[in-house]
Amino acid sequence: MSSEAAPLPALPFGIRIAGTGSAVPDQVLTNRDFEKIVDTSDEWIFQRTGIRERRVCDPLKEGTFTLSRDAVARALEAAKMKASELDFIICATCTSEMGCPSTSCRIAGALGAAPAAAFDLVAACSGFVYALNVGESLVRAGRAKNVAVVGCDALSGHVDYCERTVSILFGDAAGAAILTRDTDTTKGCIYQSMGADGSNWHSLYIPRRPQEVAECDRNNGIRLGFLQMDGREVFKFAVTKFREVIEDAMAKTGLKVDDIGQVICHQSNARIIEAAREKIGFRHDQVYVNIDRFGNSSAGSVGLCFDQLMQAGKIQPGKPIIFVAFGGGLTWASSVWRI
Ligand code: COA
Repeated sequence: MSSEAAPLPALPFGIRIAGTGSAVPDQVLTNRDFEKIVDTSDEWIFQRTGIRERRVCDPLKEGTFTLSRDAVARALEAAKMKASELDFIICATCTSEMGCPSTSCRIAGALGAAPAAAFDLVAACSGFVYALNVGESLVRAGRAKNVAVVGCDALSGHVDYCERTVSILFGDAAGAAILTRDTDTTKGCIYQSMGADGSNWHSLYIPRRPQEVAECDRNNGIRLGFLQMDGREVFKFAVTKFREVIEDAMAKTGLKVDDIGQVICHQSNARIIEAAREKIGFRHDQVYVNIDRFGNSSAGSVGLCFDQLMQAGKIQPGKPIIFVAFGGGLTWASSVWRI
């Protein structure tokens, strides 16, 4: 069961997204580069996924911590806020370098956010939208005034570049947003949903020890420490779930296609996004796509898209926006906002 619910009750205050920020590595890995590593082609990758290139970390100098730290720093700058004003930092990631401390604590330490509470959240590609919903709930409940949420994954360190089906999909990125309590009651989240179905966990997972290899993969020559994916299963799940989650958000809020300013969605595969866009009837300009340049950056993708749209002045005040994501777990989430 998911926690899909009725529209959120009105508040005596608003919740404003005060600033956004993002960070990607400089290093570009193109489809042509893959042609030199595995038996593939630019044409195959682009036709199946919509990806032309992705950004990947130089593991000697960057990773989940540096990208998410930089994204939060930029979001704070855009919000004209100091890190010391934050009450919470929530980092959504499944590629934290250390088990302890959390990436959030390292961000807090680097930016000077003490004594803000800081914790990580794991919801794979749904991570940014999960973090946004949790952060919003903390402000809504009166537990926080200012919350930084960041989604970041650096899966380049967790994919096997000798394996051509999984490695071509992923890039590294971080996207962040600062939520703040505001007197303007017209701004805020009007609906959110989160759900998971753990029975299909083995469709997308990173086994670290032999006993974590799923029964169905026992004879598949799995390399421990690398992302495993049943591409067809994930495709089927994503194509259905993506549409369902958007339709649920629209039905519960009563919003029609023309009411929506932007659908800011997880960049998993251009074919999955296009299938949902066409079925629901959104215009192309309502659904932002950057997968051609950044690939699937897991928890980084939605926040990266949001920041790029904000920078480009494409988010119109008053027009609701829908954040939507799905991914490993399997998980899914939506969040509808008036900005
Ligand atoms: N280049 C060339 N050929 C490739 C290839 C590559 N990079 N990767 C796989 N192939 C081959 C396969 O070996 C197979 O060959 P065969 O027919 O001789 O056995 C053929 O292409 C078809 O493989 P298949 O895995 O069925 O391809 P597909 O059409 O399902 O596309 C994905 C593969 C990964 C692009 C697709 O399944 C997908 O996008 N799934 C969803 C993934 C996703 O979104 N994950 C993240 C969720 S958050």
